[in-house]
Amino acid sequence: MREGEPGTQLDFSGQVRAVDGTPLAGATVDLWHADDLGFYSQFAPEIPEWNLRGTFTTDAEGRFMIHTVQPAPYQIPTDGSCGKLIAAAGWHAWRPAHLHLKVSAAGHQLITTQLYFDGGDYIETDIADAVKPELILAPTAKADGSGNEVVYDFVLDPA
Ligand SMILES: [Fe+2]
Repeated sequence: MREGEPGTQLDFSGQVRAVDGTPLAGATVDLWHADDLGFYSQFAPEIPEWNLRGTFTTDAEGRFMIHTVQPAPYQIPTDGSCGKLIAAAGWHAWRPAHLHLKVSAAGHQLITTQLYFDGGDYIETDIADAVKPELILAPTAKADGSGNEVVYDFVLDPA
């Protein structure tokens, strides 16, 4: 993230395991998300390249700890045929705030998913209709008042 990145600080941690519970050391957690205003690097010109995008490797116990900020909701593009469909259907164009993730490990199947935030705007009416209860995070305030923290584990199927 940029130095002094605006927004609510978020410590996102967890463990990557095999289906038998074995921790997967050296697994890859690839994370990217929008910023506190709902903008992505590589798309919004004023944001540095690769801001809020990173690849992390789990430790010997399969654990990861990522310090970032909570993203904001954003509207999908409303031009072109997609915009015509949204207008014709009377939908809004908003996606709830979310983290994008790819989690992988040797000998296991890749997980590509998104995680959402409990109680967030548009969580019930995602234009992409991609929210599932098991994908909703419920961060809590850190004891030191510096932001929020949440734990989420991933279990990878064998390849
Ligand atoms: Fe997104």
